Amino acid sequence: MLVGLGAPDDAAVYRLDDEHALIQTVDFFTPIVDTPYEYGAIAAANALSDVYAMGGRVLFALNIAAFPPQLPPWMLADVLRGGADVVRSVGAAIAGGHTIQDKEPKYGLVVTGMAHPDKIMTKGGAREGDLLVLTKPLGTGVITTAIKRELADEAEVSAAIRSMTWLNKAASEACLAAGVKAATDITGFGLLGHALEMAEASGARLRIEFDRLPWLPGALRHAEKWAFAGGAFNNKSFYGPAVTLTRPLEEWQEILLHDPQTSGGLLAAAPRDALPTFIDACSPAGQEVWVIGEVTAGEGAEVGVEIV
Ligand code: CO
Ligand code: CO
Repeated sequence: MLVGLGAPDDAAVYRLDDEHALIQTVDFFTPIVDTPYEYGAIAAANALSDVYAMGGRVLFALNIAAFPPQLPPWMLADVLRGGADVVRSVGAAIAGGHTIQDKEPKYGLVVTGMAHPDKIMTKGGAREGDLLVLTKPLGTGVITTAIKRELADEAEVSAAIRSMTWLNKAASEACLAAGVKAATDITGFGLLGHALEMAEASGARLRIEFDRLPWLPGALRHAEKWAFAGGAFNNKSFYGPAVTLTRPLEEWQEILLHDPQTSGGLLAAAPRDALPTFIDACSPAGQEVWVIGEVTAGEGAEVGVEIV
């Protein structure tokens, strides 16, 4: 086992031989948008993302689903089609799966991937001087909460869906091209929770500049009106104590940093001189990149995330 529960990461990694490591991950959740096809596509993009966060390629996937028996069959078919289209778009296939009946719909994938054992990216590979890059804007928790409260407008909904269905494949390949050793995807623990995991695993401190953070259209507007998912408050009470604020923030801005993401971007620590290679590798695929901070020295209790 190269990566298991000893040092929890985005996916499990099992070394087969000197050149091949198997990657496995499973992820599923309840609907977060109103359209079944998009729900399926988002759940699939989110599940594949953990393979990309480890620097792997996707081999195949299995469906894992629960549907209420009274749900019209077309809805179920749309969810599965949304997921299958995403998996097919990366040259992989859904090879099986399991469905049960349940009150609330649930859908996701078990994903199997492959990587070279020496090229695995982990949360523990960040080094002092590395630049922190983020590959998707933040705010999906706020936008999906605004959708549930019927506050989000059409443009905000479509921008969020576009972001959540966007794959981390190109970003992951750019990481490999640039020799990046540390990456993770931003999901339920929010930017700061996942940044802290990286800081702790790397024995380093991450300095994140608030003004450099990219937000989805409408995220700031709805956050100011407290359209927060419950997870944002849980994240803040769990991870907040390890975060140092060296600039004044409004309370809503601070909570927004803990906004739980669905199918968020990669947070990678790129060696400074590799940044041009990383950006060049991203552009043919239309992959956006934001430099949001840097990795600084820190020992023991100093490990943490600093917001400047
Ligand atoms: Co992950
Ligand atoms: Co996951």
